[in-house]
Amino acid sequence: MADTLVDTTSELLQRIESRTARIGIVGMGYVGLPLALLFSEERFHITGFDIDSRKVDTLNNNGSYIVRIPATEIARAREKGFTATSEYDKISEMDAVIICVPTPLDEYHEPDLSYVTGTVSSIAPHLREGQLIILESTTYPGTTEEVVVPLLEQGNAAGLRVARDAASQGFYVAFSPEREDPGNDTVARRDIPKVVGGCGPVALELASAVYATIFNRVVPVSSPAAAEMTKLLENIYRCVNIALVNELKQLCMRMNIDIFEVIDAARTKPFGFQAFYPGPGLGGHCIPIDPFYLSWKAKEFDFHTRFIELAGQVNLAMPYFVVENIIEAMSQRGKPLHGSRVLVLGVAYKRDIDDLRESPSLTIIELLQKRGAHVEYNDPFFASVGRGRKYALDMTNTPLDRIPEFDCVVIATDHSQYDYSEIVEKAKLVVDTRNATKGIEAANIVRC
Ligand SMILES: NC(=O)c1ccc[n+]([C@@H]2O[C@H](COP(=O)([O-])OP(=O)(O)OC[C@H]3O[C@@H](n4cnc5c(N)ncnc54)[C@H](O)[C@@H]3O)[C@@H](O)[C@H]2O)c1
Repeated sequence: MADTLVDTTSELLQRIESRTARIGIVGMGYVGLPLALLFSEERFHITGFDIDSRKVDTLNNNGSYIVRIPATEIARAREKGFTATSEYDKISEMDAVIICVPTPLDEYHEPDLSYVTGTVSSIAPHLREGQLIILESTTYPGTTEEVVVPLLEQGNAAGLRVARDAASQGFYVAFSPEREDPGNDTVARRDIPKVVGGCGPVALELASAVYATIFNRVVPVSSPAAAEMTKLLENIYRCVNIALVNELKQLCMRMNIDIFEVIDAARTKPFGFQAFYPGPGLGGHCIPIDPFYLSWKAKEFDFHTRFIELAGQVNLAMPYFVVENIIEAMSQRGKPLHGSRVLVLGVAYKRDIDDLRESPSLTIIELLQKRGAHVEYNDPFFASVGRGRKYALDMTNTPLDRIPEFDCVVIATDHSQYDYSEIVEKAKLVVDTRNATKGIEAANIVRC
């Protein structure tokens, strides 16, 4: 390694070690903001970048827009130097930049990398030598090398290139997947091992050093593609296993067997079994989406990812299955769905969180409306539900004391603050998609 290069990388390592390195995090969402706070707790001066000026203003005014992050945490980070901005020219002041922007699917169910390419194209003109750029957004194997690196190389006027070994000059690039499980407080964020793959050994060393300051264990892998694939394997594993229990639930219902009882019994096996639970369908930014990043990429290799496709089919059909069961349960009680009043409990995609992206509740609401039902919702985390990428529901939260007005109450998300006994007592009919009424015996409960 030329002396100046040794100096640059060892200087950066030293700045990371002494917490004087400047870290920029692009995308102040569910992933980027908690990450910024973790680094801030470690005494780093963090700059959060976001194109959403309302988020930037909220953060700079010591406010929070994520329910589980109290404003006091933002205020504490601000005291330690945390600041937010929409101005990309500040990128050149950063030693390391971590990208946490969305990676959704487009309307044809194909990867929409526009947020990543938009971000990287905005960073490129401000790139400087020795800087470390890390992508955290979940994506298909090859994105870092085939999309991020070329855009950075082409977009900077100085002609900087990615430095792949100790003898090269330029900037460093790595990929490290986010593994957060929103609402899961059983594992501290620091205890979740951090997988890192670098474009070359120096990038790997630098990225590992950055993450080692906030995570107790860093797991280096041989390349960004291996790290990208690791994240997809984790999510495909969940997606396929959830599809398996969703399918078995449907069989168990026909056989009059309680799938939840079966899973609870099976999980007593001390090895070789991990419990997954059926539900009304998949939600969130990850499990319903990420597997299709891989099935799309696989086509380039003439490869058909059958497990992913099959799991997708089963999981996507679950909201329709729930609606069929609602229709059946109502008709058993002499009520047609058309013209009836239905209250859906929980629009968040899972218990106790304030995130409704890809929530199956939204599909259920839409399907019920299409079939002529008058639908309202209750969710302690959402005062209103407006316009999403796919939905334009424009609804406001209905208080629970109005339950008796409805012909059917659907438990779509089992928030822990609901009193299920009281709900069953007040409701004419309860359709429970989450086994939330476990242990309550009443003739007006239908579990599906
Ligand atoms: N939410 C999770 O639980 C979770 C878990 C693991 C992985 N991930 C992955 O992490 C990534 C980010 O997810 P998220 O949930 O934080 O998304 P999010 O929508 O909550 O946040 C993304 C933020 O990026 C901002 N943004 C978009 N384009 C930008 C640009 N060009 N420049 C600056 N900011 C921009 C948006 O305004 C938004 O604030 C995704 O790839 C997702 O798959 C999410």
